[in-house]
Amino acid sequence: MSHPDALIWDDRYSNDVRWQSRRPPRSLLTSYQNLLPHSGLVLDAACGTTPTGLHLARQGWQVIALDVSNAALRIAQSEVQKEALPISFALMDLTNPWLPSNRFDIILNFYYLSRPLLSTYRKSIKRGGLLFFETFVRDEFIQNEVDGNPHHYLEPHELKTSFADWNIIHYEETQRASRSTERRNRSRRIVRLVARKPK
Ligand SMILES: C[S@@+](CC[C@H](N)C(=O)[O-])C[C@H]1O[C@@H](n2cnc3c(N)ncnc32)[C@H](O)[C@@H]1O
Repeated sequence: MSHPDALIWDDRYSNDVRWQSRRPPRSLLTSYQNLLPHSGLVLDAACGTTPTGLHLARQGWQVIALDVSNAALRIAQSEVQKEALPISFALMDLTNPWLPSNRFDIILNFYYLSRPLLSTYRKSIKRGGLLFFETFVRDEFIQNEVDGNPHHYLEPHELKTSFADWNIIHYEETQRASRSTERRNRSRRIVRLVARKPK
């Protein structure tokens, strides 16, 4: 039986062109490109069609891309086959994650939240490795109307506190205009973090 998240996301990736279309890599990663070593192992968690993973793989990075949606992975895989890029895919539910310790040079977590991943990432990134994390944060002043599920929002300052003993290179909590037409004129609060695990 499929995971409930897989049912929702498979439907989006199979039937909604907005989710199927090619996207640019996340700017949080590209704006810190100068910090990256020249090669290594990247984990793209809840990768979707892995736009940022594709960007890194094109530069020679080895990428492991995980997602609960088979439909998303199929779209991503067709890109990878065209270009013979070094990306491996696995279908995985990340609500109850297991990842190897001290394994990844970079972890990407864009627009997905599973709180157990925060402690998992702390162990799975190698010393000196980098975490790029961007997702929604609860708005202290406006009730989140779009999706009221507290499991989908970080609390204000929660991400910074979770990595307070790491070298925080970038941290901001800011408003982002919604791209969706139904939600036009509504902004959502997001958090963006780049942090390096101490050596
Ligand atoms: C908003 S998309 C973000 C995709 C990608 N990280 C990006 O930056 O474009 C959220 C992704 O989380 C995945 N997802 C949702 N629930 C999941 C779960 N339980 N385990 C793993 N991935 C999940 C969805 O399939 C979807 O691809």
